[in-house]
Amino acid sequence: MALAVDADRLLPATDAFNRQGIIGCGVALHHAVTAWAAAGWRLRVERFPRPTDRSHLASLEFREHGDPLDSDVELAAAIDIRYTDRAPYAAPHGWPDLLPVLRELCRRHDTGLSMIDDGTRETLARISWSASALRRRDPDYRTELAWWLGGAGPDAGVPASALPSREAAERVPTNREFLSGTSDQGPEQQDQAQIVALVTDDDTVESLLACGEALSAVLLGCTVHELSSCVMSHLAELPATRARVVEAIGESHPQIFVRIGRPTAPGPPRTPRRPVEEVLVIE
Ligand SMILES: Cc1cc2nc3c(=O)[nH]c(=O)nc-3n(C[C@H](O)[C@H](O)[C@H](O)COP(=O)(O)O)c2cc1C
Repeated sequence: MALAVDADRLLPATDAFNRQGIIGCGVALHHAVTAWAAAGWRLRVERFPRPTDRSHLASLEFREHGDPLDSDVELAAAIDIRYTDRAPYAAPHGWPDLLPVLRELCRRHDTGLSMIDDGTRETLARISWSASALRRRDPDYRTELAWWLGGAGPDAGVPASALPSREAAERVPTNREFLSGTSDQGPEQQDQAQIVALVTDDDTVESLLACGEALSAVLLGCTVHELSSCVMSHLAELPATRARVVEAIGESHPQIFVRIGRPTAPGPPRTPRRPVEEVLVIE
């Protein structure tokens, strides 16, 4: 099996260097390896097997079959229940114990996990505001956002039911700005999430793919601990805002941020998934 970039789903105005595209493929790779591990399959994964073809991200080969580890079964079960929760959160329970676990999950994928303190969080909120203001004046971005949110058809995208209302969105100042949605917004409280940054040593495709694998492990790990999570990629998306992020968090290669906390509202209906035969071809 080969993992490859889907050239029809790139977002050049939003993700000019395809960093998030590769990170998203890393998430898919980690999900696949985890799901097959839970079914008892060990896979051999060769990343970037063809040096001259960087769009061929990995080759996967089934190796041996045996009893799955409980930890793989638990993590794979999280794939079917996790969702992006864009509402404000209550503070996460057990955070001092969970943080080193998440850090170790990232380390296994050569990715660092940097915790955001309260002062830096305020700076991130200001950077988020600037990013939104710049994007409001960018018609190409707005066209892509509309496509991402649902214009791609009923099998893909983020429906209004997964987006918070204007009032709930205002209580999460670090989130990406979307059109206001209809998801349950929970009690009137300001966001008390913890925020972490996933950081790498450089911006090579190898590091981005590994960062995506780490991101998947973090999202699934949070679900196992009954915590909500939300990816925030807009902060490091534009070169100008990324430069401010670099200064704010003191890391040279910030890739993606994740908000983690206790849910305050029931989750929205699950976002649609593309049919498996569209994304997986077994030859
Ligand atoms: C690389 C990457 C970047 C993302 N950036 C954002 C973001 O900036 N804001 C956001 O609300 N969701 C973001 N997401 C979450 C996706 O929108 C979401 O995972 C997808 O719509 C599927 O929905 P689900 O997570 O509820 O299953 C990102 C996901 C990935 C993999």
